[in-house]
Amino acid sequence: MKIKKAVFPVAGLGTRFIPATKAMAKEMLPVVDKPIIQYAVEEAFAAGIEQIIFVTGRGKKALEDHFDRSYEIEHVLKQKGKTDLLMQIQELVPKTGTIIYTRQHEPLGLGHAIWCARDIVGDEPFAVLLADDLIQTDKPILSEMVKIFDRLRASMAAVMEIEKDQTDKYGILDAQELEKNIFKINDMVEKPSPDKAPSNLAIVGRYILTPKIFEYLGKKEKGAGGEIQLTDAMKTLLKEQPIYGYKFNGQRFDCGDKVGFQMANLAFALERPDMRDRLIKFIKKIQKDF
Ligand code: G1P
Repeated sequence: MKIKKAVFPVAGLGTRFIPATKAMAKEMLPVVDKPIIQYAVEEAFAAGIEQIIFVTGRGKKALEDHFDRSYEIEHVLKQKGKTDLLMQIQELVPKTGTIIYTRQHEPLGLGHAIWCARDIVGDEPFAVLLADDLIQTDKPILSEMVKIFDRLRASMAAVMEIEKDQTDKYGILDAQELEKNIFKINDMVEKPSPDKAPSNLAIVGRYILTPKIFEYLGKKEKGAGGEIQLTDAMKTLLKEQPIYGYKFNGQRFDCGDKVGFQMANLAFALERPDMRDRLIKFIKKIQKDF
């Protein structure tokens, strides 16, 4: 079965970015000149996803508007003859009906957010993208995962190696490498302290899940931080179905963190021919003071 649907949990308040996020969705913060959410949505469409499911909350109106037409801007750009920009904002609007919004009424955790999409996803495997995790790779990461899914027909999560003292920020795996970059997961634990972590292999925000996961998410058992955790439901799913970890080649930026967000801006700006030289010149100048 083809992966056609992708769930984006985007209900978080973004308190770490206050005051920027007081009246604005954190997913709308720009990395260079594109909102964080747009990177993930483009990645999903590039992987063949046909339907985007946003699990939103209050205060996320800008997100909906971003993926809708803006007649005022289009009108002004047309009048000024700025056809490039006009095309850019028109292309950004997905085909009518391909984005669905549902709400997570209470902040009960990532697992609960995914569960909110259960009736829209239905009985088919689906992808989950945590937009805060911005991933810079040669080959788009979700496209690679979809290819692996076609072969293994099983749930999987993207993984990366982290510093051992950072395990309490991630879902951590006990896993063994089956073939290059593909791990068979034996067990997983959400945010363990470094002394309890089974490895330094951490989950990052890209998943492909079989619909069976909704059964376990529906039990609404609370885990780390008193929240309903996706990792815990996956751990239970492991007893019935295999789950794999895909170690990607590339760089992941945690845009939910202020430093990670700045790093993402710098890394993505340095990829841009129109910005690269001036930035390098500036970095060289200020690094003398470090
Ligand atoms: C979530 C998951 C965690 C995963 C992480 C990746 O945690 O619960 O397993 O490692 O995303 O970014 P959060 O960052 O939402 O606390």
